[in-house]
Amino acid sequence: MKGIILAGGAGTRLYPITKVYSKQLALIYDKPLIYYPLSILMLGGIKDILIISNEETVPLYEKLFGDGSQIGMNISYAVQAAPNGIAESFIIGEKFIGNDRVTLILGDNIFYGKLNFLYNALENQKPGATIFAYQVKDPQRYGIVEFDENGKVISIEEKPEFPKSSYAIPGLYVYDNEVIEISKNLQPSARGELEITDVNKAYLKKGTLRVEKIGRGVAWLDTGTPSALLSASNFFGVIEDRQGVKVACIEEIAYKRNFINREQLEKLIGTMPNSDYTGYLKRLLNE
Ligand code: G1P
Repeated sequence: MKGIILAGGAGTRLYPITKVYSKQLALIYDKPLIYYPLSILMLGGIKDILIISNEETVPLYEKLFGDGSQIGMNISYAVQAAPNGIAESFIIGEKFIGNDRVTLILGDNIFYGKLNFLYNALENQKPGATIFAYQVKDPQRYGIVEFDENGKVISIEEKPEFPKSSYAIPGLYVYDNEVIEISKNLQPSARGELEITDVNKAYLKKGTLRVEKIGRGVAWLDTGTPSALLSASNFFGVIEDRQGVKVACIEEIAYKRNFINREQLEKLIGTMPNSDYTGYLKRLLNE
């Protein structure tokens, strides 16, 4: 299983936060936003990751994560020259994906809670795709899935004016290798993008789309506005303060999931400046 993080987009709604660096580098409490989606892929056991962003931003991610070997990962980078849509990820990432399956997460999507919904999807080796559905108050802003009374998917629509349900499709998608061919055959939408919703519709048409509802025990947070960024920061601030554990601490995940051993963590800590974050990692060594 390969993993792609799409961390592009102009982030214009967050201007001037996004004037100098991209949204996914904005702060969520004590770390950049992109740590959260990266940690989700890591928790899913995915070590081969491609980060796709625009030309100006790729070097910043490279500075942040390097080749990933310090956390036992293999991270590479690719440029999306223009915001041509989420589905373009699979065309850009064709070589990287090779003959494997691929999980895509959007660089501004945050999940928190029990990740069984993801683990089940990753374990399922059947042909096709697994996407998720999460109840929201403002369905017009998302890809929306409509179910019949038996829970069967009837329709999928991108940002419908009159949503047929309140189940939004989060930016986390698990696909088989066919996603490359499907993406190559897409036509750009009215907004000029290769839509991920059209990829999902193609799987739906073939009868190989699985949609798993994510229950109340999981938080899927929005990061689209300054107030949403603040809410997400507060959310993780409360949890981290209360428990004294960090969320989305990629070095901790790498260590606890045996991507790296104790010696490697010690070495990594040695490269970090004195900070609360470094202190936290040091404490892990004494647990
Ligand atoms: C994109 C997708 C949409 C999905 C959303 C999740 O929207 O097009 O289907 O529900 O991500 O964050 P966009 O970020 O392009 O507004």
